[in-house]
Amino acid sequence: MRMTVIGTGYVGTVHAACMADIGHEVLGIDIDAERVASLAAGRAPLHEEGLDPLLARGVASGRLRFSTSLTEAARFADLHFVCVGTPQRRDGEGCDLRFVDAVIEELGPPLRQGALVVGKSTVPVGTAARLQRRLTELAPGTEVAWNPEFLREGAAVADTMRPERLVLGTSSAWADEVLREVYAPMLRAGVPVFSADTATAELVKVASNAFLATKISFVNAMAEVCDAAGADVTVLARAMGADTRIGPRFLEPGLGFGGSCFPKDIRAFATRAEEIGAGPAVAFLHEVDRINTRQRTRTVDRARALLGGDFTGRRIGVLGAAFKPGSDDVRDSPALTVAAAAAAEGATVRVHDPQALDNARTVRPELTYALDVPKACEGADLVLHLTQWPEYRALSPAALAAVVRTPLILDARNCLDGRAWGAGGWTYHALGRPAPA
Ligand code: UGA
Repeated sequence: MRMTVIGTGYVGTVHAACMADIGHEVLGIDIDAERVASLAAGRAPLHEEGLDPLLARGVASGRLRFSTSLTEAARFADLHFVCVGTPQRRDGEGCDLRFVDAVIEELGPPLRQGALVVGKSTVPVGTAARLQRRLTELAPGTEVAWNPEFLREGAAVADTMRPERLVLGTSSAWADEVLREVYAPMLRAGVPVFSADTATAELVKVASNAFLATKISFVNAMAEVCDAAGADVTVLARAMGADTRIGPRFLEPGLGFGGSCFPKDIRAFATRAEEIGAGPAVAFLHEVDRINTRQRTRTVDRARALLGGDFTGRRIGVLGAAFKPGSDDVRDSPALTVAAAAAAEGATVRVHDPQALDNARTVRPELTYALDVPKACEGADLVLHLTQWPEYRALSPAALAAVVRTPLILDARNCLDGRAWGAGGWTYHALGRPAPA
């Protein structure tokens, strides 16, 4: 099938490359000419496992091309996936839909009758219906559908090729059929598919993210209770997670969630619910957000207390800058928030991250950075473990103890082996867990 993918950020680039790989003819569109040139040369503008070879293969086969022109997009195909960003509004509340709206305004007029415009971006419920009204004015006889994207950064290609489910939000049996044809290889492989109206499809996405965020904040709230009770949240979480109705995933206590999705999505969901008169139903999401933010302040408070109540003049080695391991993304990264807060109170903070240093330098130029862990921790009074990269679990505590001033570590991700660090000469602390005897 012929299709365009409009917006070549995370979702769009991966979707375009995967669609070409399963045999479709794809034209990727972006307003950024430099990005388009790099993609056309087969180079991904972002780090994502497995994406580079897929992109190179698509470009080499001729099935994957890129352009900056939406007029060309309208001429190329009658099926368009909209994957542009829907960032948080400046007021911090709802979703900024200006990029989605701009695509409809420009793509609409040259569209042919019978064209199908499919949104993949995360949007407030009711957006597809509103866009449908506008598109009908600009291009009668066209349809808007919603097919939310559930991919995770770091597993984006695998999540797109083998999704856990597909959600097809349409207003007609015809549009549903077109989307089933697009995803035919996935359907043949047994991927569950849910056909819905557009409002339900939009909601599946935000409700899923809200549920996962709630699960994380729940276990982090339990970590606070464990701290007060002298109990161990890691054992509590494992024992709770053994109940298959609860499950162990997204029940890992620590510094909480960040990134470009969860924090923004729960705020936008609460705002939209208020707009449509369902505010009380999701008012708990404000608490989920507060619990999450509190893990960052709790970590800073704990670090300050470990240093005797004052950061001034102290050296801190920070392990991790990315919002999660396996990603170079630092958007709303809990690790960087904590590192910056300590620096703002007078500590000298040196940050290590295996992949996110360039991005971290751009958003937090006031911090200093190190290319390896010993450099980051040299002469440190305290080490903070803030992003749970596997390489940090493989560190030799004894070797690292030799470079710091005081072998004192706060494991804010709760996943280092406290006993091994103790045996290596460290005083080990974690959130929601008593220090090992
Ligand atoms: C998330 C969802 O998992 C995807 O399904 C969704 O498509 C995506 O948002 C989106 O809306 O675009 P992502 O933000 O890439 O994906 O990252 P996750 O792996 O879900 O992690 C989110 C955050 O939760 C990270 O900061 C992670 O460190 C944190 N987390 C996760 C915890 O603090 N504890 C846990 O137990 C699990």
